[in-house]
Amino acid sequence: MKQSKTKICRNVTEDLDEAIGNIKPESIYILTDFNTRKYCLPRMLQSKKLQGCHIITVADGDENKNIDSTLHIWEYLSRNGATRKSLMINVGGGMITDMGGFAASTFKRGVDYINVSTSLLGAVDAATGGKTGVNFLGYKNEIGVFSPAKSVLIDVDFFRTLDIPNIRSGYAEMVKHALIDTRREWDNILSFDLDTIDFDRLKTLLAASIQIKERIVEQDPKEENIRKALNLGHTFGHAFESLSYRTGKPVLHGYAVMWGLLCELYLSHIKLDFPKEDILRLKNLAREYYGVFPLDCKQYDETLELMTHDKKNESDEINFTLLAGVGDIRINQTATKDEITECLDFLRDGQ
Ligand code: GLY
Repeated sequence: MKQSKTKICRNVTEDLDEAIGNIKPESIYILTDFNTRKYCLPRMLQSKKLQGCHIITVADGDENKNIDSTLHIWEYLSRNGATRKSLMINVGGGMITDMGGFAASTFKRGVDYINVSTSLLGAVDAATGGKTGVNFLGYKNEIGVFSPAKSVLIDVDFFRTLDIPNIRSGYAEMVKHALIDTRREWDNILSFDLDTIDFDRLKTLLAASIQIKERIVEQDPKEENIRKALNLGHTFGHAFESLSYRTGKPVLHGYAVMWGLLCELYLSHIKLDFPKEDILRLKNLAREYYGVFPLDCKQYDETLELMTHDKKNESDEINFTLLAGVGDIRINQTATKDEITECLDFLRDGQ
């Protein structure tokens, strides 16, 4: 599975023209959501190569990353002459790139696709690495395939239109990348000022963060071993996210990841002696910028049930990626119900 290098663009239209020129598709289908169509697409449509292309628009939000929206995309492609030589361009956040990548990779057994990420969260994680999919029966990314994009393009200027919670959501995944990398990256990322966003600095940090992910995906594209490092914070995090949808109070993915990181660093502390002071640094940051996850102890069993269903599990044990220290990755770890409860108590402590 050949992975493309993610490109942080100076001029996304030029880079897109070049990427399309290399593919030479018979026809082009842009997938986007209503917001992105309004705020980001007009600039890209200046591209000569996009004249006369089809545009498929879907409702945004993770609750629409589902099989019904995918049916709509397949139906549009089918009714509007798409062939195996067509190209799909997914323009949007992780919801669009995940679902568009899945729709493209399964239509006629797979057409090429390009991701243009317009959100920080999508840029730092979903757009890169070839994981595609949709949610199903309340479980995150339950249906999907590994299938890398032909190109991944990022224009930091798009992030200027993001609100603060969406910047914070992306930043949480950058924190995760730093934690699995080196203490230098960890100190670097924690020194970023979340009160006044410096987009030039963000661009530099983002480039480093994407490289951390690319290095890992290159070694293990199908998540058989070291790619599991990228799941740090996500075993608890996905459960929190699913729980928030079930209770009708959805939280952004990165917020769930931030709270998931706190739980999994605490579990790392219990089991592998991960330094407490590093957890407290993150806990203070999380309290200030992410608030607390509204979790009641009556929801512990449901959280555990969601974690048990996680597709990352093997046999019937919950699979975690933990750290013995910053950058000291331990994959395929397990935990008892009591240890998981202790982590949830730690998360709620001080609420
Ligand atoms: N989001 C984690 C991965 O791409 O493996």
